[in-house]
Amino acid sequence: MAPDGDRTALARLRGALARFRAALEPRPRLVDWSLFALLAVVLATGVLGFLSGRPDRAWVFVTHGVAGLSLVAFLYFKLRRVRARLARPTVTRALSALMAAVTVGALATGVWWAFGGSLDLGPWGLLNLHVGLGLAVVPLLAYHLAKRFRPPSTRDVRGRRTALQYTAIVTAGALAWRLQGSANRLLDTAGATRRFTGSREAGSDEGNAFPVTAWVADDPAPVAVDDWSLSVRGAVDAPADLAYADVAPDGDGPAHEDRALLAAHEDRALLDCTSGWYSEHDWQGVRVGALLDAVGIRDGAAWVQFRSVTGYRWSLPVEEARDATLATHVDGERLAHGHGAPLRLVAPGRRGFQWVKWVEEVRVTRRRDRSEWLAVFVSGVDE
Ligand code: HEM
Repeated sequence: MAPDGDRTALARLRGALARFRAALEPRPRLVDWSLFALLAVVLATGVLGFLSGRPDRAWVFVTHGVAGLSLVAFLYFKLRRVRARLARPTVTRALSALMAAVTVGALATGVWWAFGGSLDLGPWGLLNLHVGLGLAVVPLLAYHLAKRFRPPSTRDVRGRRTALQYTAIVTAGALAWRLQGSANRLLDTAGATRRFTGSREAGSDEGNAFPVTAWVADDPAPVAVDDWSLSVRGAVDAPADLAYADVAPDGDGPAHEDRALLAAHEDRALLDCTSGWYSEHDWQGVRVGALLDAVGIRDGAAWVQFRSVTGYRWSLPVEEARDATLATHVDGERLAHGHGAPLRLVAPGRRGFQWVKWVEEVRVTRRRDRSEWLAVFVSGVDE
């Protein structure tokens, strides 16, 4: 049994913690709406992060981390308040409990990833699990809102006190995020050297020896170079069909009369995959700008779409596309099939799923093809 002195100290500590929590805890309905708002922010920044590969978008990931960690305080307030009700389950309560568990799972896997954790789940890893759990919150949250929606009320806001509570909680979230970076460096974890996107280095400058991943289901049979050609179509003056020899630095072209404009080109670029790795290489092939100059693009042309043999496709604005590369080689090695042989797009600053593999067509368009958003999810699914 603890001596009387210890018991009094413990009781005092408990009392102090209870007063601290009471001072920090907003009114119940505000807690609910704050949870909703923070979940909306983490989900939006999580998805936006998939489209962000340039350092000027680092704020997206910082916001994601700070909002995610600020969620902890509100989750604690909420679960403390409703835990007694969860002991008397109904369908709605069971689904609410599931939502809480999935949210805690998303939080835990996010923090685990940030600290350099990894998990082998066959074709997936820890970051995929994190994203999966995060996305699973969406339908559960929609159901929860449909069943339990109560409009926020201004009576719940208590002026300066509420402002101070929110400042304290978000500052704690930001501090936790900052400390996570310092702790990672101090402990020298695998999380210390990750990019601002959260991705970790894999196989840079080692030719084809970097991870092979497919966005959703794309997995075509190897493309035979002799049967393959690159077609350039759309809003161009002189549509062209190019053979491998016309675009490869080791090709014995020229088959195309503008071969001189398609001089061998090399670019150093970093491929940052949304499954959590990045790899930097020298890519050899042709500059898309040279290809566009060779065929001549028409007035009003605004987008350049790169289409794969699988139907997968992605567009870049013309000016950005000019600086992209259509690569046949990586670090001087012919591209391996898994990396998109014979030709893949190298789009610096874009995430990996936008670096279209197995390219067989370049299409210049006036308007963006919206169907490509669907194609990235379904191409390969029917094979
Ligand atoms: C309930 C939903 C989610 C929560 C609570 C959550 C929370 C978190 C947290 C706390 C971290 C660690 C941040 C850090 O300490 O630096 C993190 C990392 C990350 N999350 Fe989420 N997340 C959610 C959903 C998503 C979704 C839907 C995506 C993508 C579509 C996503 C993508 C990422 C990525 C890429 C990282 C790594 C960032 C880094 O390592 O700095 N998250 N998340």
